[in-house]
Amino acid sequence: MKIETILTPAELPALAQRDLRATACVVFDVLRATSTFVTALHHGAQAIIPVSEIAEAVAFKKPEVRSRKSEILLGGERNGVRISADGIDFDLGNSPREYTPEKVRGKTIISTTTNGTRALRACVGAKTVLAASFLNLTATAEFLRQNRFENILLVCAGTGENPADEDIIAAGALVDALLPGKDTHSKRTDSAMTARAAYFEAVRIGLDRKISLSENGQRLLAIPELRDDVAFCLQRDIFPLVAKMETDGVIQIAK
Ligand code: MLT
Repeated sequence: MKIETILTPAELPALAQRDLRATACVVFDVLRATSTFVTALHHGAQAIIPVSEIAEAVAFKKPEVRSRKSEILLGGERNGVRISADGIDFDLGNSPREYTPEKVRGKTIISTTTNGTRALRACVGAKTVLAASFLNLTATAEFLRQNRFENILLVCAGTGENPADEDIIAAGALVDALLPGKDTHSKRTDSAMTARAAYFEAVRIGLDRKISLSENGQRLLAIPELRDDVAFCLQRDIFPLVAKMETDGVIQIAK
């Protein structure tokens, strides 16, 4: 097994040139897109369709598309807050705590976020694409182990054009789960070891403390209605599911 990590979204455009047909991509946008998708699926959403642009999401409200089997909700954020565009108020923002069973059960959610949905879309050519977070970390590791993927690419969505600590730390936690100390068969890449070192450092000083000092942590903590998202997204393994994006770009719970 070879595990590599994309540490910054600046590396995303280069993915289009790579042959990912034998690679499992695991996308992390811990604060908050992938945490939100995992929460929505756990609470009964039928599917999530990540799109890069607001206009693509709005297009799903057209009558001809609305005839999909399940009701469509628009979700996502720009600058952290719920989107209003072209006279349409999105149904949901990007706070995982909004995605309650009452709101999302049986629904298809079209989501556009600043980095998370872009990172997922950048992986479309891969053999398998998973949306991961602390909320479903062990289930994701177990799935990767059981399916014996040769190449695993951990994709940290970051913030804007910059790396984000929480994504690198969660990717490092997954590296740690996949490559226990005595493993001598796997190919250790510098990028995976960098992520794992970031995870160890976060554990040493306390994950909550480390993330509350991060740029994204600080940004969310400064918005009263979103501050609780930070602690929510750092919970480990509360939703033991695997969120898998199929080749048609639809994310559902892996069977
Ligand atoms: C993103 O996709 O960049 C985010 O998840 C940002 C956010 O939720 O505020």
